[in-house]
Amino acid sequence: MTATTNPRVRFTDLHPAQTDLAQAVLSGLARTPKRIEPKFFYDAQGSELFETICAQPEYYPPDAEREILETHSAEIAAALGSGCVLIEPGAGSAAKVRLFLDQLQPSAYVPLDISGDFLLQAAHDLAEDFPWLDIHAACIDFAHSLRLPEQLPETHKVAFFPGSSLGNFEPADALTFLQEVYTAVGPGGGLLIGIDIPKDQAILNAAYNDAAGVTAAFNKNLLTRIRNELDSDIDPEQFDHLAFYNTELNRIEMHLKSRRAQHVQINNQSFHFAPGETIHTECSYKYAPEPFQNMARQAGFQPRHTWLDRRGLFSVHYCSAPE
Ligand code: TRP
Repeated sequence: MTATTNPRVRFTDLHPAQTDLAQAVLSGLARTPKRIEPKFFYDAQGSELFETICAQPEYYPPDAEREILETHSAEIAAALGSGCVLIEPGAGSAAKVRLFLDQLQPSAYVPLDISGDFLLQAAHDLAEDFPWLDIHAACIDFAHSLRLPEQLPETHKVAFFPGSSLGNFEPADALTFLQEVYTAVGPGGGLLIGIDIPKDQAILNAAYNDAAGVTAAFNKNLLTRIRNELDSDIDPEQFDHLAFYNTELNRIEMHLKSRRAQHVQINNQSFHFAPGETIHTECSYKYAPEPFQNMARQAGFQPRHTWLDRRGLFSVHYCSAPE
C-alpha cells in the first residue's frame, strides 16, 4: 500500500498484466476477418476522446443513465442497503457514483481501474467532495481478475458497473464476467448495472456516428497508436470509420474500413487489405430488460429492480446474490 496524503484514501497496486499492443495487433490482423481488441483504444488520447464522445448530443447513454441514477437515487440506495462495500470495476473518473453516494452512505468505495495514475487522482478528487467516505482504490485489469484489495469492511458487497460496458463483451464472455462478479460479491451481495436497450436503428446509428466525428477519431486513434508505437507505415487517413447496428445480433459493430487495396508494414510483417476490407474493433451489444435479467439469473443473481429513463432508451438493473 502506498502512503497518500489523505488518510481516507488507500491505494493498492494489484499489478495488472502488461497488455502488449504489438502482439495483439500482429495476431489480430493475421485473422480472417481482421480484428483488434477494444482495450487498445484507451491510451491517454483515446481516454480523452472517449470523454468527448460522452458529451456528444447523439450519444444518449450518459444522459439517460445519469437521469435514472439521479431520479431514483433514494430507491437505488434502499435496494443496495446502506453500509455496503461498493465496488466499481473500470471506475475511470468515478463520476457516476457521485450521483447516489450521499443517499447510499456505503462503508467503503472500491474503485478498480487499469490506469493507476488516473485512478489515484480520481480517488483524491472524490475524497475532497465526500470527506466522510473511505476509499480503497486498486489498480487492476478487471477483465482479467476481480481480485479485491485487503482489509475491506466486513459487510455486504455491491458491484457497480455502469455505462453498458457489459455490452462490449461477447455474450458468452458477458455471462462469464457476471459469474465472476457474483463470486466476488458473494452471498448477500448485489450488482447495480447500466445496460443499453435495443431501439430504433436511426438513434443507434447516429449515436456511434456523431456529426462532429469524435467516435470516428476515437476509432482511428487505434491506427495512430500502431503508427506511433510500433514500427509501421500504416496511414490512418487510408481507413474510414464504420459503425452500424446489426439488427440480427442486437449489436453495434465498429470497424476501420480500408479505402483502397493496400499493403501495410508492421514490425517487418506485411498485411494486405482489399478495398473495403475492415478491421473489426468493437461490439456494443444491446439487451432489452428481459434478456438481461435472464443472463443475470444464469450467473446466479436474482433480478430485483429495473429502472428506465423517461424516453425508455437505457436501463439500470439491481440484482441480488441470494444468501
Ligand atoms: N460501453 C459503451 C458503449 O458501448 C461505451 C463505449 C465503449 C463506446 N466503446 C465505445 C462508445 C466506442 C462509443 C464508441 O456504448
